[in-house]
Amino acid sequence: MYKFAVLGHPIKHSLSPDIHAQFARQFDIQIDYDKILAPIDSFAQSAQAFIDQGADGFNVTVPFKLDAFNFATELTLNAKTAGAVNTIKITNNQYLGENTDGTGLVNDLINNLNITLTDKVILILGAGGATQGLLLPLLNQHPKRIMIANRTASKAEKLHHDFSAYGNTCGFGLDKIKHTPVDIIINATSASLDGKMPDIANGCADNAICYDLMYGQQTPFMDWAKNNNASLIVDGLGMLVEQAACSFEFWTGNKPKTQAIIKALRR
Ligand code: ATR
Repeated sequence: MYKFAVLGHPIKHSLSPDIHAQFARQFDIQIDYDKILAPIDSFAQSAQAFIDQGADGFNVTVPFKLDAFNFATELTLNAKTAGAVNTIKITNNQYLGENTDGTGLVNDLINNLNITLTDKVILILGAGGATQGLLLPLLNQHPKRIMIANRTASKAEKLHHDFSAYGNTCGFGLDKIKHTPVDIIINATSASLDGKMPDIANGCADNAICYDLMYGQQTPFMDWAKNNNASLIVDGLGMLVEQAACSFEFWTGNKPKTQAIIKALRR
């Protein structure tokens, strides 16, 4: 029996236990997957208490991905470049930190939505933790260019500086976005959480694929994409299931099938 959990604050509405239970059934593996509400100021104590109960690994969600990065005793390259950890695997008293968010997004785009990323021009809105977690896995697909646009231009410029060694990037303020169409726009800002749309030029979405990392509701970004002739508008539900699948594989070595689960959750 594997012992897993997700730690977050809040945590009540997490879909992770249900998703992982479905993965486990695919391989006839027994798992116990809990939801743990960690107090905001004591992530490390909650994580250690769970490990002391015999945990094999755990997921980490908002607002603890940076705490988990600091808690891990070893980090994968993905986690290092992301500067954040959403998955920890316990082996030989080591706490190996991984970040599966970016690979989850890439897998959703490529495997579920049949979108090729190679040679594409990708515009990412936002330059916070979410964007940082996406950049390496996206750049590994060899897009023609990744443009990072942020309300605070200096943060986009910094991410460009930090990631330009891995591929063709650039960073600038939202106000510098041109009216020219791009292939894919990813909304990685937290604006949707406040029911807001980043203030950007119209025109760049013409015939573009527009992907909002948020899921569970129609966002202002998705409305904007519809009004601006996007070719496809997607929310982050597929990414949620795909990042969970990457965690499950990281822990157990088994790669779950995801499409039926995404479909069922969408219903
Ligand atoms: P996360 O971990 O979700 O990325 P974060 O690191 O706080 O959260 O980053 C939030 C991102 O959303 C930032 O890029 C932020 O822009 P600023 O750096 O200028 O603050 C962006 N953001 C939040 N609300 C926004 C809004 N209403 N319009 C545009 N960008 C917004």
